[in-house]
Amino acid sequence: MRGRFITIEGIDGAGKSTQTESLIALLKARGVEVVRTREPGGTPVGEKIRELLLNEEMDVETETLLFFASRAEHVEKVIRPALERGAWVLSDRFTDATYAYQAGGKGMSGRRVEALEKWTLGDFAPDLTILFDIAPETAHERLAARGVDEDRFERLGVDFFTRVRDAYLERAAANPARFLIVDASAAPEKVAGEIAAKVTSWL
Ligand code: TMP
Repeated sequence: MRGRFITIEGIDGAGKSTQTESLIALLKARGVEVVRTREPGGTPVGEKIRELLLNEEMDVETETLLFFASRAEHVEKVIRPALERGAWVLSDRFTDATYAYQAGGKGMSGRRVEALEKWTLGDFAPDLTILFDIAPETAHERLAARGVDEDRFERLGVDFFTRVRDAYLERAAANPARFLIVDASAAPEKVAGEIAAKVTSWL
């Protein structure tokens, strides 16, 4: 049986990592093979593209193309083969991030993103997308408290992340069957419980 493809989305600082760990533990405890991966990245070529994307200044069109180049490689080399052998794939970000960041945040045309999506992926899409929703102010405080070096996305500020958040919420409203929106400012146990309930109902 084909595995399931789950993507994790949300603005920077929404706390995706901790919850992803709990979800993986839950799946493994049920005997499911889990492939954890991320975008940009997930393949040797994709990780090189990631270095460029996170460290170099570039035009929004250039970065949109690079995100899709990384994604095309990722789907062909990692995601599809894993799903076909029955593994579940958990990707930290996927195409919704390009709609949210490049289109919503930076004003890239949504039509162009859609054209690239059709070209590189056809109808391939996640089975479930968990959206970690949080106010940008709260997310920013979390990032500051972490004290890590900010990459060029994290330096973009609260107005930018408000647009990104709104774009994610619009994507979720347009695809209600695929999205699970969790309130990422809630207690971590509550968030974990919501995710576990949804995923368990599939198992
Ligand atoms: P990460 O910090 O969650 O690994 O993601 C790297 C950054 O790349 C993050 O700020 C979101 C951004 N990003 C986009 O702008 N567009 C995309 O399509 C993807 C996948 C990530």
